[in-house]
Amino acid sequence: MNETVVRLPDAAATRGYGRALATVLRAGDLVVLTGDLGAGKTTLTQGVGAGLHVRGQVASPTFIIARVHPPLPHEDGSLGPSLVHVDAYRLGSLDEVDALDLDASLDESVTVVEWGEGWVEGLAADRLEVSVQRSRGASTDGSQHADDLDDDGGAGERVVSVRAVGPRWDGVVVPHAPVDEADPADDPDDVHRRSGGTTTVAG
Ligand SMILES: Nc1ncnc2c1ncn2[C@@H]1O[C@H](COP(=O)(O)OP(=O)(O)OP(=O)(O)O)[C@@H](O)[C@H]1O
Ligand SMILES: [Mg+2]
Repeated sequence: MNETVVRLPDAAATRGYGRALATVLRAGDLVVLTGDLGAGKTTLTQGVGAGLHVRGQVASPTFIIARVHPPLPHEDGSLGPSLVHVDAYRLGSLDEVDALDLDASLDESVTVVEWGEGWVEGLAADRLEVSVQRSRGASTDGSQHADDLDDDGGAGERVVSVRAVGPRWDGVVVPHAPVDEADPADDPDDVHRRSGGTTTVAG
């Protein structure tokens, strides 16, 4: 088991790190995201979705517990895995996790679960455990004032630690840095997510 720690100065860098993670993800993989409210779990997942080249905007589901983002064809026509994005926050019991039938889609998809810690590990011996934390001050005790979050838009450096659990990850190098979001790369879709046609520069 190894652990990779990456410091991400802003949301663009966090999305870029999601893209970087996507380069090592393949069908059947499970990513369990932990971190406080607003830490950046969904932001990271957006980057994973962009990197995997899947359909639809990865968002914080309000009433939706799981959303499947099917793959879009790559330039050569090939299809990667879908992204299954689960927000387990509202789940009340393990039965509900079972009812999601995550098992069924695990094989064909990259599954990213927010708030899955302690719930979904049983579904896969191999997984990436990713924690997203604000790097400064109040962390897990909720003592940070909501005002602080509003003042700076929740901005600030995040520290992401990735623990690769299980033999699936033997010999796999977990990325140590984000992919530059400004890189036009192979993802024309992402252009539509940038507002006003501006380009976001990571870092
Ligand atoms: N370095 C950073 N990384 C990620 N997000 C950041 C960063 N700096 C500021 N932000 C902002 O923090 C917020 C993170 O929101 P996000 O929905 O990704 O968090 P979350 O962990 O999914 O929250 P929830 O627990 O409600 O699901 C966004 O508004 C984002 O722009
Ligand atoms: Mg979220």
